[in-house]
This record gives sequence, C-alpha cells and structure tokens, in this order.
Amino acid sequence: MGRLIIYASRYGAAKRYAEELSARTGIPAVSFERAKRSEGCETAVFFGGVYAGNVYGLRKAARRLARQPVRSLIVAPVGIADPADAAVAESLRVGIGRALPQNLRGKEKIVPLRGSLDCSRLGFFHRTLLKLLYKSMKNKREEELPAEMRALVQVYGRAEDFVDFSALEKIDALLHV
Ligand SMILES: Cc1cc2nc3c(=O)[nH]c(=O)nc-3n(C[C@H](O)[C@H](O)[C@H](O)COP(=O)(O)O)c2cc1C
Repeated sequence: MGRLIIYASRYGAAKRYAEELSARTGIPAVSFERAKRSEGCETAVFFGGVYAGNVYGLRKAARRLARQPVRSLIVAPVGIADPADAAVAESLRVGIGRALPQNLRGKEKIVPLRGSLDCSRLGFFHRTLLKLLYKSMKNKREEELPAEMRALVQVYGRAEDFVDFSALEKIDALLHV
C-alpha cells in the first residue's frame, strides 16, 4: 500500500508537522515540488500553509495525486487562525473542495492545524501582502472581521507559534481506520 506525506511550506510550520508525522509513522515526507514520488500512492496526507485563505501547493499536489490510485486523502491546512472557530473551519473546507480535481473531491478528510507566524522573518512579498491585509482590516470592529483574519490582525507585527504536535493524533487515528 503506497503511503506518502506531502508538504507545502514557506516558513516551516507545515514542514515541521509533516516531518513529525513521518517520524511517528515511518511514512516518507516530501515537499510538493518533489511529489513526483506519488507514483502508486493510495493514501496521501497533505500539509500546506494557509495564505490569504488558500492552502499553498494543494492544487498542484492534488493534480498529480489525481493520476494515482488514491483511496484516502487527508488534507491538513496549517494556518494562524483557530480552526476550533466554526467559520474558520468552514471557509477552509470550501476552499479545499475547490482546489481538488473532480475525482478526488469527496475523498478528502480535513484536519485543520495551527501554524506559526514571525513577522520579522517574512520575505518582501508576504510582508507587503500582510501589510495590505492588515490595513484593510485594522479599522474594522472585531466582530466585523472574517474569522480567519481576526488572528492575523492580532499577530501582526509580532511572532506567535501555535504548532502543536499533539494535534497529529487525529491524523494518526485516520491512518489506522
Ligand atoms: C501574507 C500572509 C497571509 C496569511 N493568510 C492567512 C490566512 O488567510 N489564514 C490563516 O489562518 N493564516 C494565514 N497566514 C498565516 C500562515 O498560514 C501561517 O504563518 C502558517 O504557519 C504558514 O505555514 P508555513 O510556515 O508552513 O509556510 C498568513 C500569513 C501570511 C504571511
């Protein structure tokens, strides 16, 4: 049975989760840019950082996986927003559904995870994008902000690390179904 962990990470949080799951399960972990190794894959776990509501790398990785005999696909979006918030979880679910090709749609199980953000480490593009998002949000009242943006506004200018490996137990359980 071919099993593979794929990650798409810009600042390391999704990669940290992927490598920890790989160490726990013995399933190899590869970056989505090198996911040509998905040959024969039946079970795939994808970890991707969330950027402006989209899961980085998912569309590309899923296009490759769609050509494999995938029976089980676990998608773990890694974002700064708290997925315990139903609105955050719902907007991730909708976005992930849209990023998947037809023959994978409905096979996915989604396990949202919390990532980390260190504003001092951002590259020029992301710093600018975050600044624009922040400017458009900062004068709104908290209850007016989309749930996924609330956390970004709170962390803006600072560093926060919410990576929690105990959340991987949910994925481990799905791998044993
Ligand atoms: C420009 C920018 C946009 C972001 N947009 C979102 C977002 O829409 N929702 C969210 O939950 N987190 C958002 N984040 C936070 C990232 O998802 C978080 O830093 C995550 O850990 C990134 O994963 P990575 O470290 O593996 O790249 C954003 C971060 C940046 C820099």
